[in-house]
Amino acid sequence: MKILLLGARGMLGRDLQPVLSTRHEIIGRDIHDLDIADPGQVGAEIGSLRPNAVINLAAFTDVDGCESQPERAFSVNAQGAGNVARASEAAGAKLIHLSTDYVFDGTSPTPYKEDASPHPLNVYGESKLQGERAVQAAGENHLILRTAWLYGRHGKNFVDTILRLASQQEELRVVNDQKGSPTFTRNLSWAIAQLLEKDLRGIIHVTNSGSCTWFEFTEKILALKPPLHSRVLILPISSSELNRPARRPAFSVLDCSRFEGVIGRRMRSWEEGLREYLA
Ligand SMILES: NC(=O)c1ccc[n+]([C@@H]2O[C@H](COP(=O)([O-])OP(=O)(O)OC[C@H]3O[C@@H](n4cnc5c(N)ncnc54)[C@H](OP(=O)(O)O)[C@@H]3O)[C@@H](O)[C@H]2O)c1
Repeated sequence: MKILLLGARGMLGRDLQPVLSTRHEIIGRDIHDLDIADPGQVGAEIGSLRPNAVINLAAFTDVDGCESQPERAFSVNAQGAGNVARASEAAGAKLIHLSTDYVFDGTSPTPYKEDASPHPLNVYGESKLQGERAVQAAGENHLILRTAWLYGRHGKNFVDTILRLASQQEELRVVNDQKGSPTFTRNLSWAIAQLLEKDLRGIIHVTNSGSCTWFEFTEKILALKPPLHSRVLILPISSSELNRPARRPAFSVLDCSRFEGVIGRRMRSWEEGLREYLA
């Protein structure tokens, strides 16, 4: 297949591209060569390349930054997603569009299924939800893939931040009242490659399996790095103590049973994903 990968130079894009290129022709684009917020550019590029599929990872992903730059958030994450979806539909290309657990408010007592009602708590989540709606309004030939808590080799991420801070400080204060599923971008790339082989539509949830809080995630990261673990004290704190600009859901675990049914396998656990990353 000829696949146009948007957001190709981001954290997920740089892991996904080599995974897909073993079987497909991949054309990667990022902000410097194609701005998804510009409908003219998007229409011209997709119209002339005529890919079989478009995978849209491009987004303004700075969750706190979205609070102070809502226009940019909506222009990329909402209107940009719509531009890509309409151009893909016009070119007859299947679209896989990435979205987020932050479309939910975190009040559910159980993992969120694909048809649960979204209710974002922050600008990033609201802009991504409007992006989903713009994709749905453009036609039928799409799969919206919601994932969560990504980390990977090619981006600024929580695991690396914890390792850096643990080597500089004796005490780490980490939020213990947000629960989610940390997801390794290489494991997610494998999942996207599997999904490309299926003719699926609608929404699908894909994360590493299992869940933890950021505090529990930190404990596990440092447990896998014994020299750091023995010298750093990890203290659980609440989100209100951290006082970040964007509110986050307390519980944003996604129910991935649709994925498991279709692919016939569970995603690796978040602990296995972390071990693989740190190895
Ligand atoms: N990271 C997470 O924890 C997480 C969780 C759930 C869902 N997701 C979703 O997964 C996808 C990939 O995430 P990621 O972590 O790989 O994000 P990322 O590293 O920020 O990559 C996104 C890429 O899109 C580019 N971009 C920004 N604005 C653009 C525009 N107007 N036109 C074209 N490209 C643009 C970015 O360039 P700049 O870096 O120059 O801005 C970046 O290279 C996103 O859709 C995100 O919403 C991420």
